[in-house]
Amino acid sequence: MGKNWWCLILVTWLCLFSFIDARELKARHTSPLAQYNHTLATILVEYASAVYMSDLTQLFTWTCSRCGDLTKGFEIIELVVDVEHCLQAFVGVAEDPHAIIIAFRGTNEHSLQNWIEDLYWKQYEINYPDMDDAMVHRGFYTAYHNTTIRPAVLGAVERAKKFYGNIQIIVVGHSMGGAMAAFCALDLTVNKQENKVQVMTFGQPRIGNGVFASLYSKLVPNTIRVTHDHDIVPHLPPYYYYLPQKTYQHFPREVWLYNIGLGSLVYRVEKICDGSGEDPSCSRSVSGNSITDHLVYYGVDMGSDDPEACRIVLNSFVLNTGIRDSKGNLVLSRDPANSLLKLSREFDSQEKPIRVY
Ligand SMILES: *[C@@H]1O[C@H](CO)[C@@H](O)[C@H](O)[C@H]1NC(C)=O
Ligand SMILES: *[C@@H]1O[C@H](CO)[C@@H](O)[C@H](O)[C@H]1NC(C)=O
Repeated sequence: MGKNWWCLILVTWLCLFSFIDARELKARHTSPLAQYNHTLATILVEYASAVYMSDLTQLFTWTCSRCGDLTKGFEIIELVVDVEHCLQAFVGVAEDPHAIIIAFRGTNEHSLQNWIEDLYWKQYEINYPDMDDAMVHRGFYTAYHNTTIRPAVLGAVERAKKFYGNIQIIVVGHSMGGAMAAFCALDLTVNKQENKVQVMTFGQPRIGNGVFASLYSKLVPNTIRVTHDHDIVPHLPPYYYYLPQKTYQHFPREVWLYNIGLGSLVYRVEKICDGSGEDPSCSRSVSGNSITDHLVYYGVDMGSDDPEACRIVLNSFVLNTGIRDSKGNLVLSRDPANSLLKLSREFDSQEKPIRVY
């Protein structure tokens, strides 16, 4: 059979689907939608940016170049680097908002192009445990659930709560880090019975099917998913309008940042989207064709500061205090009762940083 013949079959098939069910699968939400707070977003984006830093000493002591004014007073209590899978996350406690903050790093820029191509073509799916028909992306799921990240994060949250009490937990991440943030928030809610979990992700890909999106938004309703202009990543894995039962689908609530030019003036718009997760008037109204838009949110750099894949920088003090397993994965922990000031003085007295891979 010729190529045209196959095209005809495909078109007929898609038309058939559009007649049978061209409606979009709209998730019905009983819980109120998350309220968007611009000020909070501009603070949280700084954490999602800082977690990319490769100098672990500066990150751990919160003295890195991205550890700016808006996040002043933040105290990291755990920094985990899964060298094996090129993942990084931290847990700490912030002054404003007074909360435990968990941040996940995304894919290294070095491999971003390959990663994006993989999201078009390879969609490995697994069932989310104990949730009938909820399917999720295997790669994102395992990055959180099947690496050194999860035990380190959960352990740190427990220690923080012992010291600070039952304060708010906010989980953030950019790109694949956003996908991990969503899985972490769900994990804390379902398996640790946390009921104060809030999520904000930036340029996050789709992570599961419609059933999953709907369950997620019931369990973690306080979620904001920020997208930026033509950022390609929120468009992936693709959404198939004519196959609402089969496609990947975003959970709410999207906030779409874009610019409109009026003559020589450019206005920045922050559009708060509807409760469907797939608001057709938000980022889905444009083609996702930009990597540049993926790497800046609220004017903040979201990429890695070091173009070399998965390199980390630390001094021997950190190397000696941290726990490294046989695969080189590293966990740096601090007792919340110890003052950070004392710790940074100890760091300062050490010799020049060394690089490890
Ligand atoms: C928005 O977030 C900021 C920073 O945490 C907080 O100070 C402010 O009260 C919040 N605004 C509202 C309306 O909740
Ligand atoms: C998690 O890792 C274990 C051991 O490496 C492996 O046997 C298991 O299949 C993995 N689970 C998933 C969902 O990939």
